[in-house]
Amino acid sequence: MSDVILEARDVHKVYGGVRALNGLSLSIRQGEIHCVVGPNGAGKSTFFKTLIGVERPTTGQIIYKGEDVTRLPAFRRARRGLSVKFQNISLFAELTGLQNLFVPLRRNHPKSEIPARAAAVLARVGLAGTEDLPVRYLSHGQQQWLSIGLSIAADPDLLLLDEPAAGLSVEETARTADLIRHLNASGMTVIVIEHDMGFIRSLRARTSVLHYGRLFAQGEFDEIAANEEVRRIYLGAA
Ligand SMILES: Nc1ncnc2c1ncn2[C@@H]1O[C@H](COP(=O)(O)OP(=O)(O)O)[C@@H](O)[C@H]1O
Ligand SMILES: [Mg+2]
Repeated sequence: MSDVILEARDVHKVYGGVRALNGLSLSIRQGEIHCVVGPNGAGKSTFFKTLIGVERPTTGQIIYKGEDVTRLPAFRRARRGLSVKFQNISLFAELTGLQNLFVPLRRNHPKSEIPARAAAVLARVGLAGTEDLPVRYLSHGQQQWLSIGLSIAADPDLLLLDEPAAGLSVEETARTADLIRHLNASGMTVIVIEHDMGFIRSLRARTSVLHYGRLFAQGEFDEIAANEEVRRIYLGAA
């Protein structure tokens, strides 16, 4: 059996005349944390959208768990264990964290189990003790973690995070990195899409660098950080 959970094969995405993705090939291994970085306009968000199924590649394939999902709608990928947390959080501000979690849990679990499951998810993302607080009283970081909680409520195999540390304080950023490592240690494969090198430095994970819609470099974080060519595209294009 292959140890690859997700693979992009020669993916192109053209918007009008703009080549957002230009022959991107990239594999994500089962069980890893994988960071995808690149300067603005490199194609990160477009890649993310083709992975989750909200955009279709112009040509090329997305293979998930050995199956060609290129044309599979997003909700069907979700049912196969692929979950996503978008950058913009959408929580019900007047409801508590627990109540927010009821929404995704209701899809898969009997009513009687939901409160206990919601409490467990809340604890898993480090929010035990905030059960009864309306979400608008949570800090920005806590709202981000709750939003990760919503994405993991259905126990996904693969979690995609879009800039999970955007707008967070230094301490919240460190806690977010801990949370990601913790989820990964429980068996979840995690892909982190990120512009900022600072955050992924703390994850020290295998990293792919996108540039002009292609894979520009790939390796362990330290190799990537030491790569002169990578430094050059960041300085030139950021
Ligand atoms: N919906 C769209 N329509 C036209 N051009 C787009 C669209 N989305 C992205 N692009 C272009 O594709 C390129 C890659 O964009 P994007 O994937 O957002 O890069 P990144 O997330 O790395 O900053 C950019 O040149 C961007 O302007
Ligand atoms: Mg982007």
